[in-house]
Amino acid sequence: MVYFLYRQKTSCAFFKTMNLFRFATANRRVTHPQFHRQFLTRVAMAAGVSLLSACGGSGASSNAGSATGVDTGMSAAAQVGQKIFADVTLSASGKMSCATCHDPANAHAQTNTLSVQLGGANLDMPGFRAVPSLRYLDKTPAFAFGDDGKPLGGFTRDGKAPNLAVQAETPFMAAHEMANNGRADVVAKLQRASYVNEFKNAFGATIFSNVDSAFERALFALQQYQLEDSDFHPYDSKYDRFLAGKATLSDSELRGLALFNNPTKGNCAACHISKKGADGSAPLFTDFTFDNLGVPRNKLIPATAAADYFDMGVCGPDRTDLAKRTEFCGAFKVPTLRNVATRKVFFHNGQFNNLRDVVNFYVRRDTNPEEWFPVGTDGTIHKFNDLPAAYAGNVNVKEVPYNRQPGMAPALTPSEVEDVITFLSTLNDGYKP
Ligand code: HEC
Ligand code: HEC
Repeated sequence: MVYFLYRQKTSCAFFKTMNLFRFATANRRVTHPQFHRQFLTRVAMAAGVSLLSACGGSGASSNAGSATGVDTGMSAAAQVGQKIFADVTLSASGKMSCATCHDPANAHAQTNTLSVQLGGANLDMPGFRAVPSLRYLDKTPAFAFGDDGKPLGGFTRDGKAPNLAVQAETPFMAAHEMANNGRADVVAKLQRASYVNEFKNAFGATIFSNVDSAFERALFALQQYQLEDSDFHPYDSKYDRFLAGKATLSDSELRGLALFNNPTKGNCAACHISKKGADGSAPLFTDFTFDNLGVPRNKLIPATAAADYFDMGVCGPDRTDLAKRTEFCGAFKVPTLRNVATRKVFFHNGQFNNLRDVVNFYVRRDTNPEEWFPVGTDGTIHKFNDLPAAYAGNVNVKEVPYNRQPGMAPALTPSEVEDVITFLSTLNDGYKP
């Protein structure tokens, strides 16, 4: 469908492949040499259809793919993408843009404390998942299965979108988001946009003669904006400075970092990678894998009023291609923890609204399940109540810090939890010494 858009220069392909190599080597599940090879083959394939587009457009105008923006350093496509990202007129309500939910002023995540946002023509249709930050997604590989048979990469919390351009179609159309009535509806609105001439300059004077071409160019522009604007990946946190030897962490931050990395304490770095890559690349605090944390059901999501409604991530129902892979029911993408202290709600269903509850959930989920899950009148604790009973066994109960039983001590003491939280704040962008 949109693949024809992605004919790109070889130098760009090489650049992106090298970037991808960087994270491939940092992956916790990448231990086997053969895995490396197969993974890189897949990466190259993914690059062929999607990531090459990072280097610019193939539109009619010669400047679409080059860095013509003297002020911003962004391509013409990316500059148009920035306008589209903030344009509320592209929604049925006339009040909602990408930036409404992914506010650049809050690390491109939501600014309110709602578990799920309200969209649609009247801004009264509740969504199904909490809004993720859009930062540090530029190195995410396309979705694929590793040699260990486990899913890896992809966009959205279930990995269903292969690249940022394809992903961007969903919010334009979703009834609970921008709620447009098909591609022609969006394109008609684009033609009335204040920046329509910039759009034509970037993609050709006749771009609007074909609805699909025009729409796919808009998606491409949004992708380029997210890839090219350094606001989406500034690497200017206190922790980045610390890794560069330009800042010192406080005692509490250092203790928190050690607990975060310690395989017998927090063990957080097993999934949220905290060390530089072999080539010196900055850590992204995700290994792009999926895991099943058994997060409690969030009753604040209206859809949960139906007892048989379950958001099971990789196996559906929102994602449809892996419905039969029931071993992945309940698995969600490991998100980056960069800027996590600025998030208003946490986990795919926005179940928690502060980091203390999140870190406590990690270490007390199994030692004190009554703190997190409903307790019946007979005292039975309904653990992992946001999954159908048949899939409760998919929840990760083996890795530290989950490998506990009631009566055991949590992996972190209350003061250690505080240290981890203090450390997590060093991952906020925009550190001012
Ligand atoms: C009503 C709020 C809302 C609006 C408007 C919105 N998004 Fe999102 N966005 C979300 C939610 C919720 C998710 C998580 C969806 C999922 O996991 O299925 C998400 C996910 C994403 C992701 C995937 C992030 C990841 O971690 O893989 C990208 C990229 C994204 N949105 C970009 C956009 C763009 C571009 C627009 C505008 C065209 C947009 N969003 C409009 C709420 C919104
Ligand atoms: C086995 C892999 C794994 C380990 C170990 C792990 N996490 Fe996570 N983490 C995840 C996954 C998967 C999610 C997303 C779950 C979801 O959305 O339901 C997540 C989400 C989070 C979030 C919420 C981020 C957001 O934007 O909503 C925080 C905070 C977090 N983890 C912190 C930690 C800390 C602190 C530790 C160590 C105590 C840790 N994690 C250990 C896999 C892991």
